[in-house]
Amino acid sequence: MPEATFHFPDDFRWGTATAAHQVEGNNTNNDWWAWEQEEGRIKEGHKSGLACNWWERAEEDFDRAAELGQNAHRLSVEWSRVEPREGYFDDAALDRYRAMLRALRERGLEPMVTLHHFTNPLWLAEMGGWENPRAAILFERYVARVVEALEEFCDLWCTVNEPNVLVYMGYLAGVFPPGKQDFQAGMRAGRNLMRAHALAYRRIHALQPHARVGFAHNLRIFDPANPRSPMDRWIAGLQDRGYNEAFLAAPIRGRWLFPLGFGFAWRLRGTLDWIGLNYYTRDLVAFDRCRPESLFGRNIHAPDAELLDGGYGEFYPDGMERALKRLSYLDLPIYVTENGIPDADDDQRPRYIILHLHRLWRVLQGCVPIMGYYHWTLVDNFEWAEGWTLRFGLIELNPETGERTFRPSAYLYRDICRANAITPEVIDQYAPALRPVLLP
Ligand code: FCB
Repeated sequence: MPEATFHFPDDFRWGTATAAHQVEGNNTNNDWWAWEQEEGRIKEGHKSGLACNWWERAEEDFDRAAELGQNAHRLSVEWSRVEPREGYFDDAALDRYRAMLRALRERGLEPMVTLHHFTNPLWLAEMGGWENPRAAILFERYVARVVEALEEFCDLWCTVNEPNVLVYMGYLAGVFPPGKQDFQAGMRAGRNLMRAHALAYRRIHALQPHARVGFAHNLRIFDPANPRSPMDRWIAGLQDRGYNEAFLAAPIRGRWLFPLGFGFAWRLRGTLDWIGLNYYTRDLVAFDRCRPESLFGRNIHAPDAELLDGGYGEFYPDGMERALKRLSYLDLPIYVTENGIPDADDDQRPRYIILHLHRLWRVLQGCVPIMGYYHWTLVDNFEWAEGWTLRFGLIELNPETGERTFRPSAYLYRDICRANAITPEVIDQYAPALRPVLLP
């Protein structure tokens, strides 16, 4: 009998995901650049600097992605480049993005364009950022300019990346700009981000009727630390609702859910053509009444869990399956818009990729429309508050010299993309320890 091969659908999208500020370099005009200049904000005082120098040389990495058998790429447009001053749009910046998208198409990589990935133009930050209700309207105007400029090359749009992460990190934990620990401000910002998504959704469709528009949702698994403890179960449920559910209820059901808000959000309803899943890890949650900022939960790891580098979380592939099954009830096409692991020496990544894709494959067997998978990320890039300490790339980068080195996982992912399958050969070559697990 031939050994099991896990095949993917014929038109499956295999890509990697990136974000402008993390790869372009010299994004001097946004709130993140300013944040990096403040002492103590970024681990080891790292700065994004030239990053992967994509503003000058993205095409060279697109060559590498194509060489690695990929057929899709998710990147973001930097608002502060396109609209460096309020109401002033820079055609040269839009031309550069046109050139990038043309270059992707020429290499057989279908672009998905994210319109907001964490960074805000300084002028917007100065007027209160996402707490200011005008932000959504200003975002809509910027989106219209981008879509008009790029529609020739793109019809797959991701409005906002991870509004829940932005709210949590920027307004509750205070480790992303604007660095607040203010619950009310965070919820205001969250609602305005979701309004911005809805306005952008409608505007994009008015400009490009066949567009496919969604947003990338970071879905984290929250399990009770002690499943027999009602308090742990209650708090895990509350965190799940605040972090995962509330941001879906607005665009799907037209409802604001606590803690994001109360009441109807009619104008947001029905504003998704697809949903993006960014899945990384899970938390166990224990009740802790001294932590109001995390809805009275202490987030810990399972005692027997394999951990990821830099305290990033648990190695938990079943979470991919659980997250996808949960999203399948939305009855929308799903893209895995991010999934990846910080792993400088690449000793966990091969198993991580194979196991997460295997769980994705299992969900596909239930006829769930999963359209593609974008691994985070192609080349090591500037990892926000973690600076250059966490390395998520299939390709290693020396940020000082710009030198790139392919990690074994780059070839592993290439072989999966090319075969459109996880084959026994791939398992044997890159992660033989998984043979008894996957090919019993
Ligand atoms: C996600 C972000 C992305 C990257 C990965 C590791 O939450 O969207 O920019 O930082 O985490």
